[in-house]
Amino acid sequence: HSADAHRTDLMTITRFVLNEQSKHPESRGDFSILLSHIVLGCKFVCTAVNKAGLAKLLGLAGETNVQGEDQKKLDVLSNEVFIKALVSSGRTCILVSEEDEEATFVEPAKRGKYCVVFDPLDGSSNIDCGVSIGTIFGIYMIKDGHEPTLDDVLQPGKNMLAAGYCMYGSSCTLVLSTGSGVNGFTLDPSLGEFILTHPDIKIPKKGKIYSVNEGNAKNWDGPTSEYVQKCKYPTDGSSPKSLRYIGSMVADVHRTLLYGGIFLYPADKKSPNGKLRVLYEVFPMSFLMEQAGGQSFTGKQRALDLVPKKIHERAPIFLGSYDDVEEIKKLYAAEE
Ligand code: AHG
Ligand code: MN
Ligand code: MN
Ligand code: MN
Repeated sequence: HSADAHRTDLMTITRFVLNEQSKHPESRGDFSILLSHIVLGCKFVCTAVNKAGLAKLLGLAGETNVQGEDQKKLDVLSNEVFIKALVSSGRTCILVSEEDEEATFVEPAKRGKYCVVFDPLDGSSNIDCGVSIGTIFGIYMIKDGHEPTLDDVLQPGKNMLAAGYCMYGSSCTLVLSTGSGVNGFTLDPSLGEFILTHPDIKIPKKGKIYSVNEGNAKNWDGPTSEYVQKCKYPTDGSSPKSLRYIGSMVADVHRTLLYGGIFLYPADKKSPNGKLRVLYEVFPMSFLMEQAGGQSFTGKQRALDLVPKKIHERAPIFLGSYDDVEEIKKLYAAEE
């Protein structure tokens, strides 16, 4: 391939997904159509986020969500955009959003075979100060042809067909896995297309960064405290790790995926299940980490083996480089 070929051989996310689809002759393109609607939602939110400061879209919406959080205007707008895009795709039957207390059951006429769980805007506390935020999503197939029920979304993360996130930062980057590796696409605003920029992402086996909100240290359990202590005061003569914590899961996970290291949102005395929500934060990020050669652990088990009982259930999470997560698994095993 000459350099010119790369310049003209634009691999867009649409072409990429169609190539993937051609590997499944039985598929009728439903997944590609669903994904194209998710991509449309991401493009819309990207524009809204970039203009938020100018379009009076910052600040509070004046409502609180089921999480007890003050909803920001962009939380509400993003949620509406994704619900509408997903319903209009005609390929979904159940939608679970961080911002909606109940699941959305799509009307029969527009119903398809996929369930989508999503966090329309992750890192909301960072919106007003211009720090990177994102959208996180996961896709399940409904269990079988019966009338859709909540059981179709209360599936373990290992049953997901696909998962991804879109990060609205210095550029708009969409990271996606459909179960055979992880690929990153960057929005070219002049084309309005996501172009493949990070093919076949693999997370380094070990990293030099740990990412956790140290402000919760007072309430951590033994193994977490011991692990973080070892990051700062290594006992094996290695140099201390760097701490990087942005406070937007999408940005912290994206850096972990590319640079290596470990991201932790542990349980603590105040929140025994940690803070992050299983269906639309823990599962999609764990799916991506495993697909990139890393791993994801709840303190008790492999995150993707968890079977959620409620759609807004939370779980502690330790995810990232394979060897780093092994360390924390040993500390929790010793605690057993
Ligand atoms: P959301 O904005 O969708 O509610 O998610 C916020 C989450 C996640 O993005 C981040 O990792 C975590 O909250 C940060 O929590 P702390 O501020 O407690 O560290
Ligand atoms: Mn929130
Ligand atoms: Mn979130
Ligand atoms: Mn959110």
